[in-house]
Amino acid sequence: MKVHNVEMIMSAVRPEQYPAEGYPEFALAGRSNVGKSSFINKMIGRKSLARTSSTPGKTQTLNFYKIEEQLFFVDVPGYGYARVSKSSRETWGRMIEEYLVGREHLRAVIQIIDLRHPPTKDDCAMYDFLVHYNIPAIVIATKADKIPRGKWEKHKKIVREGLNLRKSDPLLLFSSAKPMGMDEAWVEIERRMEL
Ligand code: GTP
Ligand code: MG
Repeated sequence: MKVHNVEMIMSAVRPEQYPAEGYPEFALAGRSNVGKSSFINKMIGRKSLARTSSTPGKTQTLNFYKIEEQLFFVDVPGYGYARVSKSSRETWGRMIEEYLVGREHLRAVIQIIDLRHPPTKDDCAMYDFLVHYNIPAIVIATKADKIPRGKWEKHKKIVREGLNLRKSDPLLLFSSAKPMGMDEAWVEIERRMEL
């Protein structure tokens, strides 16, 4: 998809604040600082519409980005950030669960994994959650620019096996620093928009 028109329409923490348009939604999930917001920016061709930061925990609410009056990307706060309090972790958990489990417009979760490392315990817990609730996933192994090309397949295999990926869930290489993986990611997203 060639993106011309993007609107950041709202930050939500409760269901009554979710947008009412009814377009298909794709939510980003991943460790804090893994590159979720960067993924959105890359896919929509904007440098910094979704706020990114080298300090983890930048994204705190569900942020809905309306793309071409056709779909929403939903930027979600990352998990696994050790310095948040127990109570804000619980609030986080409730907010995410309420959205992921209850949202009928959600077509797939785009789970972002760091290609450099095996999936963390939190990555696996997130993925198992999606499997448990039968939520389709598109798994994006990002920061591929940090790994020499000759090692991509080996790292991909570690991600695939570490998550115990369902056959129906694609695993794609991506980089927000280099133009890489965008077209393939759009193909998977557009396929699920039509379902
Ligand atoms: P939270 O909102 O805190 O959960 O983080 P996030 O997952 O949205 O991460 P964000 O997109 O803010 O990126 C975190 C850091 O990683 C930033 O410094 C980005 O520039 C960097 N980064 C993201 N993607 C890539 C990538 O593909 N390659 C490289 N080299 N750096 C990346
Ligand atoms: Mg973010």
